[in-house]
Amino acid sequence: MYYSDEIIEEVRSRNNIVDVISSYVSLKRQGANYVGLCPFHNDHNPSFSVSERKQMYKCFSCGEGGNVFRFMMQYENMTFPEAVRALAERGGVELPQEQESGAERARAQQRERILNINKDAANYFYQQLHRPHGAKALEYLKGRQLSDETIRKFGLGFAGVDGRQVIDFLRSKGYEDADIRVSGLASFSEKEGLTSPFWNRVMFPIQDAGGHVIAFGGRVMGDAKPKYLNSPETDFFNKRKNMYGYHIARRSRAGNFILCEGYMDVIAMHQAGFDQAVASLGTAFTEEQANLLRRHKDRNTIYLAYDTDGPGVTAALRAIGLCREAGLVCKVIDMRPQKDPDEFIKANGREAFQDRIDHAENSFLFQARVEYEKVDQQDPDSRTAFQTRVSELLAAVPDELARNNYLLAVCERYGMNAEAIGRKVSELIGHPEEVSGYVRPKPTQAKRKREDASSVAQKMLLTYLTDDPGLYPVISKYVKVEDYTEGLYARVAELVYRGIEAGTLQPASLLNQFTEEEQSDVADILQAQLPETETEQDRRKALRDLILKVRENSYLVFSQDTGDKSMEHVMETIRRKKELEDLRRRDLF
Ligand code: UTP
Ligand code: MN
Repeated sequence: MYYSDEIIEEVRSRNNIVDVISSYVSLKRQGANYVGLCPFHNDHNPSFSVSERKQMYKCFSCGEGGNVFRFMMQYENMTFPEAVRALAERGGVELPQEQESGAERARAQQRERILNINKDAANYFYQQLHRPHGAKALEYLKGRQLSDETIRKFGLGFAGVDGRQVIDFLRSKGYEDADIRVSGLASFSEKEGLTSPFWNRVMFPIQDAGGHVIAFGGRVMGDAKPKYLNSPETDFFNKRKNMYGYHIARRSRAGNFILCEGYMDVIAMHQAGFDQAVASLGTAFTEEQANLLRRHKDRNTIYLAYDTDGPGVTAALRAIGLCREAGLVCKVIDMRPQKDPDEFIKANGREAFQDRIDHAENSFLFQARVEYEKVDQQDPDSRTAFQTRVSELLAAVPDELARNNYLLAVCERYGMNAEAIGRKVSELIGHPEEVSGYVRPKPTQAKRKREDASSVAQKMLLTYLTDDPGLYPVISKYVKVEDYTEGLYARVAELVYRGIEAGTLQPASLLNQFTEEEQSDVADILQAQLPETETEQDRRKALRDLILKVRENSYLVFSQDTGDKSMEHVMETIRRKKELEDLRRRDLF
């Protein structure tokens, strides 16, 4: 069932977000907002804030945020239409029976059907475990020492003996072939018609942050290849953004995350009580996943529990780089002589694993050790090569304090002269072109810093505007929509500017224009923490600084557009520069 924007807005406005959230979370008034313990992560200090005026919530610790619909989707694990229906009932809004559907509505409608297909298929797979043809699979899982409770919690199952059974089942539930294909549970061939690639496999449902089944991994029970078969990426399943086990790990009480390589590792860890374990989805760890974990501001250490073999070490080195880029602290768990967490826990148990967590190795020392083990330390030339490599690794550490501490630690561990290595590192930093075979991240790091400062400023301006639309004449005079240089910011700015001009700005309803994945970020943009200002004069000064910062950034982005070397671009750059200088001298209010 699909609903018009008007009816959605009506439902939203009949459900005060403070009342709705209060029925799940205990909230206390604090200034203009209500605060409480965040229900989406293990919160110790109240970092969850609900704004009655904006009708939005936001957690300053884990980054969750949105309007009343998103709250229900996240908390009650509902799809958007389900949230609309639940809140309509709560607010006494009568929903129309049927409505014509635009392209977006059709897509949302399809998403709901695909999620239902996945949910029904997962149930079907789970039930097959207890039928005669699934005995083998159940035996396999038991053989891997999984308890009934674990099997249920992760919804593990058996695919059936051929590629038709699940299709027949889904058809019998009334699903259309077209949707079954889009779900990734089946492919079509002229000869065979619709068949599922998943058969005779143990099934691992893959869930999104809200717990919806969005895909499957299927494992062979013997040695056939491929060992794991995963659902293809679809419009509704993005491998880069989701993580296995995250829907549970996000609420873990542990103050960290453990990143593993595989599904079985995650399951074994959770069974042993390490419910903070997650894994990427059949691909390497990605930047998007690092950003997802980074949103948990009070859990910034990531423990790596990758396989101890060659590919595992390579994957760990890659993950270390991504974590460092994302500002996460990373430590490496040594599971030798076992190969992975699953084997380790089986062999040594929970306490022993906790001990390995407590003694996890600093990620830089891990990087150095990998290099150390590559070379013959008796040969002076090899030793030089090792020391050069360590210097290169140090030169690549963006944070200077961290770099110095790594330098001292690594020199002590391997008995190297810290001054000599330090000189080499300074030399490399001064002459990046001499660093062979790898790219020193310094310049991009510097660029990122600037982008960060300016995106904070962009965010604050948009928050100021939604808090006080009276500021619109001044802000919009100096900052145009195109001055918001980041894609999402520009889209939000466009809607905020248009909404204020039309006198219809509603931050909470604006959120509905964005995808589920984008909503937390948008909520963040509209609820930035503003500088505390006591007098109107202070506030104006703060605004002036923000306006200048955003304009400066917009100018820099334009002038550094190296793709355009035309004369027009040069002239326009000069013009903008003058304008900016003029602005700096002027009184803006
Ligand atoms: P591993 O081969 O290490 O699997 O691949 P595992 O988790 O230890 O599996 P078990 O213990 O033998 O059952 C790690 C991860 O890489 C992906 C899967 O996500 C797997 O969990 N993978 C591996 C695939 O997607 N396809 C494959 O063929 C193999
Ligand atoms: Mn493994």
